[in-house]
Amino acid sequence: MSAGSGSEDRVNSLNKTPVAELRKQVNELTQTSQNLLTEKLFLENEINQLKKRISRLDDEIRIMREPPFIVGYIQDLTENHAIVRSSNGTVFQVSVNSNIDRDLLKPGTRISMNQDTLTVIDILNDGWDPLVASREIIEKPDTLYEEIGGMQEQINQLKQSIELPLNKPETFRKMGLTPPKGVLLTGPPGTGKTMMARALANSTSATFIGLVGSELAQKYIGEGGRLVRELFDLAKQKSPTIIFIDEIDAIGSKRLDSSTSGDREVQRTLMQLLAEMDGFEATSNIKIIAATNRPELLDKALLRPGRLDRIIEIGLPDKEGRLDILQIISKGIPTDKEVNLQQVSKQTKGFSGAELKALIMEAGLNAISNNRNSISRKDINLALEIINENRLDLGKSNPEALYG
Ligand SMILES: Nc1ncnc2c1ncn2[C@@H]1O[C@H](COP(=O)(O)OP(=O)(O)OP(=O)(O)O)[C@@H](O)[C@H]1O
Ligand SMILES: [Mg+2]
Repeated sequence: MSAGSGSEDRVNSLNKTPVAELRKQVNELTQTSQNLLTEKLFLENEINQLKKRISRLDDEIRIMREPPFIVGYIQDLTENHAIVRSSNGTVFQVSVNSNIDRDLLKPGTRISMNQDTLTVIDILNDGWDPLVASREIIEKPDTLYEEIGGMQEQINQLKQSIELPLNKPETFRKMGLTPPKGVLLTGPPGTGKTMMARALANSTSATFIGLVGSELAQKYIGEGGRLVRELFDLAKQKSPTIIFIDEIDAIGSKRLDSSTSGDREVQRTLMQLLAEMDGFEATSNIKIIAATNRPELLDKALLRPGRLDRIIEIGLPDKEGRLDILQIISKGIPTDKEVNLQQVSKQTKGFSGAELKALIMEAGLNAISNNRNSISRKDINLALEIINENRLDLGKSNPEALYG
């Protein structure tokens, strides 16, 4: 655009400023458009990412919204339908999902059903509930009576109520004595109730079936009653058997006017439990142990004769008990000579076994973090402070003599 005639020059000179200006502007605009293009690419990329995320979250929402399936049993089959019994006992005639091989459906087959239409959707495994079967695995816990401190009297009571009748049923029969069918262990948290049942299981040759009430109430909704029934069936098959129901308050609470279906379900479980307890003789070789730290919540029906008719109270340990427990817990843990467990047992009024254990562990941790390999009195005092603070947070009263 440089060379040209005189008139062009004139035009050029006339437009000089605007042309340069325009060029500048074009340059700038090109730059801006390039920036915008890059930005667009970025944003498109981000949109894609977000879209993917939305679809992932949509999937999650869909799964969360999916209604639970109802579990039931096939009772009978007709040409095009199935007669099913849901777990609460109601019978329906329903259709069967076309994906299901009808040949696999027999009376008694366990199935899952759509909540609205009750269409049979899936066939569930038959036979023992995996839960019930797996319960047997914990039949030989490794807890020993010797590991339980300050509870000799209660241990003797437990042996007398459970072991003796299992070992000498004839003697009981001859003497016309009815042994207790079941024993309830009560007492504050962390006092060794679970430990005691486990030690008993370890010491007898009887089959031990353990279950935790809260698990039963929360995890196996709709199945609690069935589980209890199968559990007792299994117990009868494998007798002599000890059934241990830990935290029984979760299923054995007072029957209030329950409005939620969860409550009603828990009640059904309890009713089944009561029925099963009534379903065998006290002289049979099945014994039940239950444990709770909330005995006041229990339905009195559970405590009637022929059910959990013997109560063993596992209270907080006294000074001697605490010394015993401290000695057991600190066995094998290097401790400075100056540490006087008798003194510690005086300083821990109101402590449970579990809290005493926490105390020694805390002291041990402190020793280790200070590169020592033996617990000193300072470690104990520090641990006492920590545990006492925890106790205060939990609303437990502070022991009178902290360093007494
Ligand atoms: N009497 C005891 N002797 C020795 N250790 C104990 C004693 N009591 C409790 N412990 C310690 O505390 C831990 C918890 O005890 P356990 O689980 O038996 O308490 P629990 O009475 O069943 O409590 P919860 O009511 O909360 O179920 C035990 O594993 C053990 O380490
Ligand atoms: Mg327990």
